[in-house]
Amino acid sequence: MKNLELNKIFGALLLVAFVIVFSQNFIEHFYDHISSEKGERKDIIVASGDNKKDAVVEAVAEKTFDIPVLLASADGELGKKVANKCTSCHSFEKGGPDKVGPNLYGIIGSNVAHSATFKYSEAMKGKGGQWNYAELFQYIYNPKKYIPGNRMAFGGVKDEKELANLIAYLRSMHDNAPSFQ
Ligand code: HEC
Repeated sequence: MKNLELNKIFGALLLVAFVIVFSQNFIEHFYDHISSEKGERKDIIVASGDNKKDAVVEAVAEKTFDIPVLLASADGELGKKVANKCTSCHSFEKGGPDKVGPNLYGIIGSNVAHSATFKYSEAMKGKGGQWNYAELFQYIYNPKKYIPGNRMAFGGVKDEKELANLIAYLRSMHDNAPSFQ
């Protein structure tokens, strides 16, 4: 009789112990599951937030310019004054020296990173292509955004008339500038 009762008590204790261990495991797994799910969700939100920001930045960087219209009424003499913003870093005359940036004589239509003597950043060397009018408008409008990681520490010319005058000046600092029509 006594033995039987002891057995019952022992059995009951075992059962309680089993339930405790089982439910702890269960709860831990459950929480793990929830927190990893939360973690994932957070990642997704962060990623889409960044994408959105990038999209906005891109929209700002890629402004549309009506280049033939802008250049048809542009004035290279006025553009020479705009180029004063550049002369601390660039020379424009033929055979002029590299400064903080490369000499820019004949830049329109030349290869990106055109100078054989200037040490360009990897970003600029990796860009490829030629400086056609559209590329120059975009780059000088917003240098940092247009070629991320390039080393030209300049905020950009934001007024499109000034920008057009400046590019008309660049046309004049050229042996044979390509047509913009
Ligand atoms: C604070 C110095 C600085 C100023 C101001 C500056 N630039 Fe630059 N520019 C640079 C540097 C440095 C590079 C080379 C960038 C690199 O290698 O990443 C460069 C590169 C360029 C290039 C590409 C040249 C090539 O060979 O591909 C153009 C075009 C250019 N600049 C135009 C201008 C114009 C136009 C202005 C004025 C509106 C201007 N920059 C103002 C420093 C400057």
